[in-house]
Parts: sequence; structure tokens; C-alpha cells
Amino acid sequence: MVEKLQQIWVDGELVPWDDAQVHLLTHSFHYGLGAFEGIRCYKRADGKSSIFRLREHIDRLFDTCKMVLLQPKFTREQIMRACADTLKANGLEEGYLRPVVFLGEGAMGIYAPNNPVRATVIAWKWGAYLGDEALKSGIRCKISSFARHHVNVSLAKAKMMGQYTNSVLAKREAKFGGYDEAILLDPTGYVSEGSGENIFLVKKGKLITPDLSSSILEGITRDTVITLAREMGLTVQEGRVTRDQLWLADEVFFTGTAAEITPVREIDNRPVGDGVVGPITKKLQTKFFDVVRGSDASHPEWLSPL
Ligand SMILES: Cc1ncc(COP(=O)(O)O)c(C=O)c1O
Repeated sequence: MVEKLQQIWVDGELVPWDDAQVHLLTHSFHYGLGAFEGIRCYKRADGKSSIFRLREHIDRLFDTCKMVLLQPKFTREQIMRACADTLKANGLEEGYLRPVVFLGEGAMGIYAPNNPVRATVIAWKWGAYLGDEALKSGIRCKISSFARHHVNVSLAKAKMMGQYTNSVLAKREAKFGGYDEAILLDPTGYVSEGSGENIFLVKKGKLITPDLSSSILEGITRDTVITLAREMGLTVQEGRVTRDQLWLADEVFFTGTAAEITPVREIDNRPVGDGVVGPITKKLQTKFFDVVRGSDASHPEWLSPL
């Protein structure tokens, strides 16, 4: 359950939490055209808070809007300020931010070109997305019976509302089957990503992850991990990944703003490596948390102080 806080930013102003309502004729509620982001703010070792890679998230929000032909009424700077203002208005030193650009009420039907383009930023407290134990000991996954969309069926590079039904269905199937998370293949059978995470495998010391021409979201945590791994002297290869490569990997982990770096210890009832969190995953996880929350100051450009 999301804990109720004080205020939500709606179309340019902070309003009381309970007043942040939309009409049932809101176009996006029916047809799913809308852009959103998920961003984390961390309290760091020095006691100050920083929003992690805010600029990149807001750039992706605007990229999604561009792809789906929504013209936000606010600038990138205004939405970035709204993110900081919303955290402060709710007294949050750490938290999750959800900016959303959506099509409001007016006309019904698919086209509705004159409906207002609305925007909101919501903040809430969110701990480890898959649980603290998942971060520590890893999770059990299942290759989903749902495929990720073909790149011409939907927009893999967009964080667009409607296409998340695909993720919800895959996640529910995995959970109902007793697993923690789904791994989705693309329509040709190659590995795509998790329901809300990018995926990496480690084989013989090398990191391998699906490349950006695959049906995957261009994850900001994915980019963070690739950058940190290369700085640590690791080889990262982006390319096609098969299901059996995952089964035979030494290590597998997910990356995402919500999931952070979550180790995968089992896929389709086969242990990943020895079935415990591997050394490279552990090293990257430690480095990641040092950068976002600790005292590692190697990437000040990723931190927007609150
Ligand atoms: C489908 C999907 N893939 C990957 C990711 C990871 O992206 P990021 O690291 O930018 O949060 C997310 C989360 O936003 C996602 O929803």
C-alpha cells in the first residue's frame, strides 16, 4: 500500500493529496496513451538527499511524449523543479517519484486531438521493489508465456502507460505460478527484459545484456551499470541473448530504478550458477549503492541535490 502523504503536483501546482483526482472520462484512463517515469531520491552518507539521474529520466519522459505525439504544457526544467518541490512538500528525504503526462477529458473516441495534455508528479515512500531479501539473496524467475511487443507493434523505447498491461500480465502469471518475477522473450524468441527491469548475465567474467535494437526499455540503471562495470575494468557486451544462455549463465541480475540491482538465483527451476548471488553481481551492487546512497562521489553529474 502506498502511504498517504500530503501533496501531489498537478498541472503546475501542489494540491492536497485527496484532491488529486481525475475524471472518469480522462482519455488516458480508457486508451492508455500517456508517458510516465519512475525516479528515486536517496539520502546519502553526508545526510543530504539527491535525485538520481533526474535529467535523464525527464529527457526520457519527453522522448516518450515525442514518440506518442503528446506536447507537454510544461518544460523539462519545470517538471524537474516539480519533482524536487513534491519531495520537499511531503518532507521526503528519500522516495520514489512518478511524473506522468496524460491526455485529459473532453472528447471520447481514439483520436481526441483537442483534449488537454495534463501533467502530475507524485512522490511516495518505496523501499526495495522486490523486497530486502531479494536484494540480498536473489529471486526466482520464470520465462513468461507472454512475449514483449514486437518493436513495430508498440514502442519499446517509450515508457508509455498502455503497453504496461503486457508487463502486468507477465508479472501476475509469474507470481501466480509461485515465482518472483517474469522474464519476457521477444516475438522471435530472444531474451528481452523483466516486467519492469533490464536483464544482465555474467559468463566467464563478462557481462552480456540485450542490445538497444531489442525490444527493451533503454534503462537508466542499465546505463549506470554498464558505465560502472566498464570503469571497474569489466567487459560488457550488448547483443542477442538466448534463453539457454540465461540457464547456463554464471550470474544473472535485473536492473531498474525500482528494482535497483536485484540478483536472480533461479530461472525455470534451474539454479543460476551455484544458486547464490555471484561475486560480480555483489561487486556491482555494492558500487551502485555507494554511488546512489553512499560516499562514492565518482559521478556527481548523476546526482541532483534536493
Ligand atoms: C519495462 C522496463 N524495463 C526496464 C526498466 C528499467 O529502467 P530504468 O533503469 O530506467 O528504471 C523499467 C523501469 O523503468 C521498465 O519498466
